Amino acid sequence: MPNQLTDGLPLAGKVFAVTGGARGIGAAIVATLNARGANAVAFDIDPSAAPAGSESITCDVTDEASVKGAFESLNAKYGRLDGIVSNAGIMLEKPVADTTLEDFDRVIAVNLRGVFLMAKSALPYFRTDMPDADKPRIVNVASELGHLGRPEYSAYCASKGGVIALTRALAREFAPGILVNTLAPGPTDTDMLRAEKNYDSWVKDGEGIPLGRVATAEEVALAAAFLCGPDSRFMTGTIVDVNGGAAMY
Ligand SMILES: NC(=O)c1ccc[n+]([C@@H]2O[C@H](COP(=O)([O-])OP(=O)(O)OC[C@H]3O[C@@H](n4cnc5c(N)ncnc54)[C@H](O)[C@@H]3O)[C@@H](O)[C@H]2O)c1
Repeated sequence: MPNQLTDGLPLAGKVFAVTGGARGIGAAIVATLNARGANAVAFDIDPSAAPAGSESITCDVTDEASVKGAFESLNAKYGRLDGIVSNAGIMLEKPVADTTLEDFDRVIAVNLRGVFLMAKSALPYFRTDMPDADKPRIVNVASELGHLGRPEYSAYCASKGGVIALTRALAREFAPGILVNTLAPGPTDTDMLRAEKNYDSWVKDGEGIPLGRVATAEEVALAAAFLCGPDSRFMTGTIVDVNGGAAMY
């Protein structure tokens, strides 16, 4: 097969839903996909936070009716779906002894059940007979903490480990028609990171990160765009680490 190099606008005309796309990493993913020619739409519980000019639909990823309604709105406008990026997430920093069951369930509902619900709800809109480069994409956003674990992040780590396992299961179940991959970012400079207790000490200074600093949201978005685009056509079930070398497996 000739090496089909893709440059220019590799996502021209394609339609993507990006959960949590109003802020942080999700907003950077929306902008990066759009810069490559796509129509990327944020599915966000708080679309009012979205950058001016970006397109958003109100969506709570924990709620089936809300997710289905968002896909219906997207389909009514564009009539096609080429991929989803399940990026919406919440963080909880609490010792186990202080974590209520409601706390735990809420983190799992947003970070893990939301990823499942998005994949399930997207299925009817995907075409599974596409040539390799154009196969529909599911890109989930996990975290390096899904591998590593961390004290006082039990619910968060469990949810992200679940996303990694879910990605592998979906990749096998949906092959060969749909490609499913996960990003595992390390600390990334967003509102979520700034809310962490250690932000000003080790996180901000990049301690323990071989590349010496935390990621920008745009750097994580570049990896998401690669997984959404034609150049990742033979990748499924992978975990792409974007962490400056902080965790190597
Ligand atoms: N920032 C980091 O250091 C870091 C590191 C690893 C992984 N991640 C993961 O990256 C993803 C994005 O994180 P971020 O740092 O951009 O966070 P953020 O808090 O800056 O933004 C999260 C976005 O998700 C939306 N959201 C929250 N709950 C939602 C729901 N129920 N339905 C729909 N949208 C919802 C918010 O409104 C917001 O726009 C998350 O899954 C997070 O766990 C972040």
